[in-house]
Amino acid sequence: MLVIPGSSSATLSQRIAQVLNSKLVKPEIKRFPDRECYIRILENLDNEEVLLVQNTYPDESILELILLQDAISEFKIRKLITLIPYFGYGRQDKKFKEGEAISARALAKRLELDTDEVITIDIHKKDVLRYFNIPAANISAMPQIGEYLKKLGIELVIAPDRGALELARTVSKVIGCEYDYLEKIRTGEKVELKPKNLNVKGKRVALVDDIISTGATVATASHYLKSQGTEKVYNACTHGLFIGNALEKLEKVCDGVFSTDTIESKFSVISVAEEVKKLLA
Ligand code: R5P
Repeated sequence: MLVIPGSSSATLSQRIAQVLNSKLVKPEIKRFPDRECYIRILENLDNEEVLLVQNTYPDESILELILLQDAISEFKIRKLITLIPYFGYGRQDKKFKEGEAISARALAKRLELDTDEVITIDIHKKDVLRYFNIPAANISAMPQIGEYLKKLGIELVIAPDRGALELARTVSKVIGCEYDYLEKIRTGEKVELKPKNLNVKGKRVALVDDIISTGATVATASHYLKSQGTEKVYNACTHGLFIGNALEKLEKVCDGVFSTDTIESKFSVISVAEEVKKLLA
């Protein structure tokens, strides 16, 4: 299998190629002065099985992904698997108000046209995969996050909202500790938590979520846990977007922030490459 990296997934692609013992085929990716994108595949892909790796975040990556798929489709390949480590727009998986676009569906409709299969990693709602009319699978980064947190002596894993409960359960299983969840009430960027009696006093706790975006969710949850006497609060997520002053908010209230390499940042200390290998092997 050949691995083709999109520009949003350079390091991860390299790691995947390494664990799969595959060749990394870097495409030529340029931006014109007006930001239009230019893509060229520099090697012959005929008869190859290809893994293309690219996020649908930020928006420019979506177009780059479409052009990469198009360029690859010019060859007589055996199979194209499109790995979308962070599926941006996954939170708009339905109409919340009349007249809204179902953004996740719109993306799925376009991205399935030039690929044989799609793989996502901790997509916000697994239901989104049903919008693809081709095989679509999701990988969880939680086993890797669990292994990482295990080394920090975590005694309790907490989901900052009900939606992340399954993630917390998976991580706690790897660590071999208890898990629980908080109840979040979100109004725009404002996040509040329903009071809940948690046995966290003196404990080392990890909050796990799929996405840290503005940091409002985990900052509020970390603050709440600290006010309950927690010894240490760590935050781990699959996709670290860290928008605006997210880090400033988090640094004030928690003892460590960790994310995976689906989105590259200085916090991407956990790799999902091994999980990709497990699915493809
Ligand atoms: C929402 O349900 C997600 O799982 C995350 O909790 C949310 O996207 C995090 O956003 P923020 O960091 O802006 O609170």
